Amino acid sequence: TEHQLNSSTLANKKVLISAGPTREQIDPVRFFTNRSSGKMGFALAETAAKLGAEVVLVTGPVSLEVSNSRIKRIDVTTSEEMYEAMHRYFTAQDIVIKAAAVADYRPKEVYDQKMKKHEGVWQIEMERTKDILQSLGEKKENQFLVGFAAETSDPIEYGMKKLTDKQLDAIVVNNVATEGAGFGGDTNIVTYISNSQEPKELAMASKQDIAQQIFQFIDRDMKDEK
Ligand code: CTP
Ligand code: CA
Repeated sequence: TEHQLNSSTLANKKVLISAGPTREQIDPVRFFTNRSSGKMGFALAETAAKLGAEVVLVTGPVSLEVSNSRIKRIDVTTSEEMYEAMHRYFTAQDIVIKAAAVADYRPKEVYDQKMKKHEGVWQIEMERTKDILQSLGEKKENQFLVGFAAETSDPIEYGMKKLTDKQLDAIVVNNVATEGAGFGGDTNIVTYISNSQEPKELAMASKQDIAQQIFQFIDRDMKDEK
């Protein structure tokens, strides 16, 4: 695009990113989780740091390391812990990106002893978790707030609905049904949707490359909003 990035594009900017899955405990040895690897969120954090930002990365359990010393890493496990951490850092930020795959439900009852097997089915009742992104949208002042969405059909329509419902400035949608997109892999195919411009579908690229392009669009949109 017309916007060039360099090591001072995000200088003096504070960027908060969430990454990875959450884990919702059932008993001391079992939990519910999802297929998020954290790679997209970590790529965003490394890219933001390279562009000069001061980065806080709130991450669920992943097997990744941060390399840039300007990234402050906060490890969390449950969606409730992620909620607390995101709200603790939110107010001071310029840009907030929620790339984490947060559990929508958690076991209503958490057993403090390991559940023993028994005859017949085991029914686990699940309750809703808090929608972290929605709550940040409600609290938003000057932060540029970006969501992610994984969809298996109609990515643009569902993405635009989430953009509006959660009061976001932009949303990055990936169609996880497509080869080369979504969970676990090193590449992604996403569409960037914001309030100020037409949706932009990015060609399949490495998650590092996608991260760069996302910051180009964010930089453009933040300048447009001024
Ligand atoms: N999200 C969140 N807290 C939740 C659920 C989702 O902060 N409890 C955030 C995700 O981090 C992501 C965005 O909301 O940035 C969209 O997540 P997604 O799962 O695609 O949307 P949902 O609103 O959960 O709707 P659904 O799963 O039903 O499509
Ligand atoms: Ca969800």
